[in-house]
Amino acid sequence: MSKRTLYASLALVALLAAAIWPFVAPADGRALYVAHCAGCHGVSLEGQPNWKERLPNGRWPAPPHDATGHTWHHSDVVLFQIVRDGPQSLLGPQYQTDMPAFAGVLSDAEIAAVLAYIKGTWPPDERAYQELMNRPPAERLQQP
Ligand code: HEC
Repeated sequence: MSKRTLYASLALVALLAAAIWPFVAPADGRALYVAHCAGCHGVSLEGQPNWKERLPNGRWPAPPHDATGHTWHHSDVVLFQIVRDGPQSLLGPQYQTDMPAFAGVLSDAEIAAVLAYIKGTWPPDERAYQELMNRPPAERLQQP
């Protein structure tokens, strides 16, 4: 093989790899968070100002997703349902909220990647508490 053919082949391989990479790479949780969630929940997961007080229209502001919020109080199943199907899926269709349902916008794998990114920012205590929420109720009661 001539040097020229070799370089041409290498360039082709690099081009093909770059072209298929977005389809084989695992979903980037942080990039998805910034694109779909940060507008309300904050780039640094800080939530909206005064998030503990209702807005004039009676709805709740977006809470932080960092350790100062309460996202880590919920089990994986609950978090996944809030993001995929919206808070109404848990609280009833009459519940007024600005939190959208992401079914049809993000795939299940993308939602899982966003939640993994959020969980990865929690300190050990919040991680441990949330892990406990994932266990069956009987096991949770046995904790000291
Ligand atoms: C248009 C604004 C908006 C966007 C965009 C948004 N959220 Fe929310 N989110 C909210 C609001 C407001 C709430 C409070 C829900 C309520 O009304 O009780 C909330 C609540 C939540 C909760 C429950 C938090 C808790 O502590 O109980 C989770 C989890 C959540 N959002 C995740 C996400 C994720 C992940 C994304 C991006 C894929 C996202 N949100 C995008 C506004 C938004």
